[in-house]
Amino acid sequence: MKIGVYPGSFDPFTIGHLDVLKSAASLFDIVYVAVLNNSGKHPAFTAEERKAMIDRVIETEQLSNVRSGMFDGLLVDYAASVGAEHIIRGLRAITDFEYEFQIDAVNRHLSGDIRTVYFMASPSHSFLSSSNVKEIGRYGRSVAGLVPSCNEDFIRERLARQ
Ligand code: PNS
Repeated sequence: MKIGVYPGSFDPFTIGHLDVLKSAASLFDIVYVAVLNNSGKHPAFTAEERKAMIDRVIETEQLSNVRSGMFDGLLVDYAASVGAEHIIRGLRAITDFEYEFQIDAVNRHLSGDIRTVYFMASPSHSFLSSSNVKEIGRYGRSVAGLVPSCNEDFIRERLARQ
């Protein structure tokens, strides 16, 4: 069984994340989308809300080999707890590389067995980030086409109140 963990803040989950998730789901037997529950980062959405949005995407997109999860410790410990030897991450631009390089180095230091698989973002998503979605939504502009449509209303209403 090839098991992968796709970790992130997912604050909120975007169509860029969905693109990476679909690619990973076609390569791995099981993919766990793991939401980082880190109050120190002051997320716009609670970890429960972020996980619920991912659950809605899994159901809507019928991703039968994808599960959602939440973690608040080290990623390598979460990966071990679900039997995963691979981490999945997306790469947009060269600016992501340095950040990902550091995360990978730390994870490999902590767990010699762990390996990370990267999927390049589709060029049409290269500008897209959760931060952009939040900024656009908070100024009352539409986030359609940036987040999975099943979560659009919830995200719009929630950001409008912030
Ligand atoms: O979506 P993000 O915020 O870029 O995801 C970052 C994430 C969750 C992958 C990273 O912060 C993480 O793994 N945090 C958990 C703590 C940990 O394991 N740290 C060591 C690796 S940096």
